[in-house]
Amino acid sequence: MEQQLPASTNIVAIRASFLHFIEDPAKVEQVDRAYQFILDGLMIVNEGKVQSLTLFTEEEAELYSNIEDKRGKLIIPGFIDTHVHYPQTQMIAAYGDQLLEWLENYTFLTEKQFSNKEYAQKIAKFFINELLKNGTTSALVFGTVHSESIDALFEEAQKIDMRLIAGKVMMDRNAPDYLLDTAQSSYDESKALIEKWHNKGRLQYAITPRFAPTSSPLQLQAAGKLKSEYPDVYVHTHLSENKNEIEWVKSLFPEREGYFDVYAHHGLTGHKSIFAHCLHLTDKEWLAFSSSNSVISFCPTSNLFLGSGLFDLDKAEKNNIRVGLGTDVGAGTSFSQFTSLNEAYKIMQLQGQKLSVFKGLYLATLGSAKSLSLDDQVGNFEVGKEADFVVLNWAATDLQKLRQQSSTTLEDKLFALMMLADDRNIAETYITGKLVYSANKYSGKKSDF
Ligand code: GUN
Ligand code: ZN
Repeated sequence: MEQQLPASTNIVAIRASFLHFIEDPAKVEQVDRAYQFILDGLMIVNEGKVQSLTLFTEEEAELYSNIEDKRGKLIIPGFIDTHVHYPQTQMIAAYGDQLLEWLENYTFLTEKQFSNKEYAQKIAKFFINELLKNGTTSALVFGTVHSESIDALFEEAQKIDMRLIAGKVMMDRNAPDYLLDTAQSSYDESKALIEKWHNKGRLQYAITPRFAPTSSPLQLQAAGKLKSEYPDVYVHTHLSENKNEIEWVKSLFPEREGYFDVYAHHGLTGHKSIFAHCLHLTDKEWLAFSSSNSVISFCPTSNLFLGSGLFDLDKAEKNNIRVGLGTDVGAGTSFSQFTSLNEAYKIMQLQGQKLSVFKGLYLATLGSAKSLSLDDQVGNFEVGKEADFVVLNWAATDLQKLRQQSSTTLEDKLFALMMLADDRNIAETYITGKLVYSANKYSGKKSDF
C-alpha cells in the first residue's frame, strides 16, 4: 500500500550504497564504530531532511511510489570545504611564488576586479557550479574587500538554498591602495552585510580579516568589536602559513607574544573562529590554540603548491583541536576534496603519519561539519539532518575500473577511490534533497566561458 501523504509533502526515496560517519575514526576503539556502510540501502528524504536510512527491504519499498534506483553507486554526505577564496577561481595555478610574492604578483590584481559587480556575479556563478561539480555542498568562503563580492556570492547561493558561510575581506594596510578599506569602513560594511545576510535561510556570515599583516591593530580591534556584538557570527582568517609571513607579523606586532596572540588579543579566537593553515605553530601556540577551542582548516594542495610546509594532523589531534579540510583555491590547485585527501595522505606520509581512508572521508564530511559547528545540520545522514549529499561512481576511468576490480575489501575500495577520484567520479549532487548538479546533464551543456 502506498503511504497516504498530504499533497504538499515532498518525499524523495533513493536506493543505493551509503557511507557516512557517526564519530571521528581516531576517537573510537574499533574503526567500524565510526561509520555506517550500507551496501543496499534506502534513504528517505522528507521536506529536505533525512527521514530514514535503512537496509533496503521490499516491504519498506512498497510504501513509496517512486524510488530512484541508484544501485551500483555510492552516496556520501556532501563535501564541506572549510577554506576557499572564490575570487581566486580564475587565477588558480599561478606559477612560481611563495605566499607573500604570490599575493603581490597575482592575487591582489585578480581581486581588484571584484569592485565590478558583474564580474563578481560571473565568477560567483562559475565558483558555485564548480563546488557542486566536485560534490561540495557547503563552504566557508573568502570574498574580496568589496561588499559587492559577498552580495554576488550570497545571491547565487540563495538560488539553490546552499549552506554557505562567507565574508568581506577586511584589509587596511600592506596591500595596494585599490584594495584597502579602513578600520571604520570595514566595520560599517561588515556590519551591514551581517544584518543583511547572516542566518538568512542557510547563509551565514564570517568576519574576515585577511591576515594579521594586512590589518592595523585598529582594524583588528574593530573586527573584535563586531565579534563581541555578533557572537554567533564566524571569524575566518589565516594563521602561521609561511615562515617569512610569521617573521613579518613579529615585526609588525612586537608587543604581542606571537602570531596567534595577535588574534587572541583582539578577541578573534574561539569555537567559531577558523584559522587556515597553522603550519608553524610553536608549542606554546598549540596549547593556547587548543584552550581557545578555535578551529584549523587543513589545506593540503595549497600548502604544497605554495611550498608553505607540512601540517601536523597528529599534533592537532593530540591537542584536541577540531580540524576541517579546505581547498584554499586559488593557492590550492583543485576544487576536489578527493584531491585534497590524496595530497593530505602524502603530507602525512612525509611526516611518518598515517591517513586512513576512514579518517580522510570523515575529515571531508562530518569532521568539517564539526569544525564549522554545523554538525547539528549537516555532515552525515542522521535522522533530521539536512539532506545534502553526493552520488559517486566508484570508477570513472579505465584505470579506476581496473583498480576497483582487484579490490576485495571496503577499506581498500574506498582508499583507491580517495586516491584516484576527482570531479569525474561525481555523478550527481543534491542539496536539501534536490538535484542541483548532474554529470549527465552537464556533459551536454555549453559553458558560459
Ligand atoms: N594569506 C593571506 N591571504 C592569503 C590568500 O589569499 N591565500 C593564502 N593561501 N594565504 C593567504
Ligand atoms: Zn586562504
